[in-house]
Amino acid sequence: MKIAQKLNGEVVFHVKGVTKTYQMGEVEVHALRGVDLNLYRGEFTVLLGASGSGKSTLLNILGGLDTPTTGQVLYGKQDLTLADEHALTEYRRYHVGFVFQFYNLIPSLTARENVAVVTEISKAPMTPEDALVLVGLGNRMDHFPAQLSGGEQQRVAIARAIAKNPDVLLCDEPTGALDSQTGIMVLEALQRVNESLGTTTAVITHNAGIAQMANRVIHLTDGLISDIHVNAQRVQPNQLSW
Ligand SMILES: Nc1ncnc2c1ncn2[C@@H]1O[C@H](COP(=O)(O)OP(=O)(O)OP(=O)(O)O)[C@@H](O)[C@H]1O
Ligand SMILES: [Mg+2]
Repeated sequence: MKIAQKLNGEVVFHVKGVTKTYQMGEVEVHALRGVDLNLYRGEFTVLLGASGSGKSTLLNILGGLDTPTTGQVLYGKQDLTLADEHALTEYRRYHVGFVFQFYNLIPSLTARENVAVVTEISKAPMTPEDALVLVGLGNRMDHFPAQLSGGEQQRVAIARAIAKNPDVLLCDEPTGALDSQTGIMVLEALQRVNESLGTTTAVITHNAGIAQMANRVIHLTDGLISDIHVNAQRVQPNQLSW
């Protein structure tokens, strides 16, 4: 097993011995079986692994949507595994942006209004307009979701996730429902956000080609990290072999 670790940089997440077991009636499902991982400030990581290997479980734990069965997750100095529901809600609200495969936009609101829903409850948000410009939708602000393509809707979802200026952006198959050309535009938006705001970004994908744009690529196999690879050179989204 080759594990290359990025040793410099500030640790944002320190994951230690994390397991997650789901009890399904008589059966125990071991989704994570002892994960150790650091994520560093400003880096762009891609998580790869077969279906059922534990990618979403790990991302949901990092995002405070789920809690480990055993082990520890530190976000900076805050131990998320000791946080109560209220503290986790605060953590998610102020520090984490989520992007999922399905965009979950509110159909009756325009792009601008969908983003504003989040900025209105944030401490130091950017304007919905700035967030939409950052994802290349400056000319679609007053469109409703039904008037936008899939890739445009996903970029509204990214704008919504980043408009609160989160420290971390967690994306679970953000291009899963998109063709390659549209997917590339979404990845370009994610890269722009990562570079211009310094948002620590983790992206789950089934598409190994996308790994080439990452700083680091983390492979999960059966609930364990089987490989961490540092890309010596990153490939631009429009140059990816899809
Ligand atoms: N809420 C749950 N209850 C019971 N089992 C679960 C739950 N969530 C996930 N699992 C199980 O945990 C394992 C890991 O699931 P997870 O969703 O993390 O995989 P994944 O790597 O994201 O897969 P995919 O690529 O298909 O999305 C799977 O065996 C899954 O069936
Ligand atoms: Mg998943």
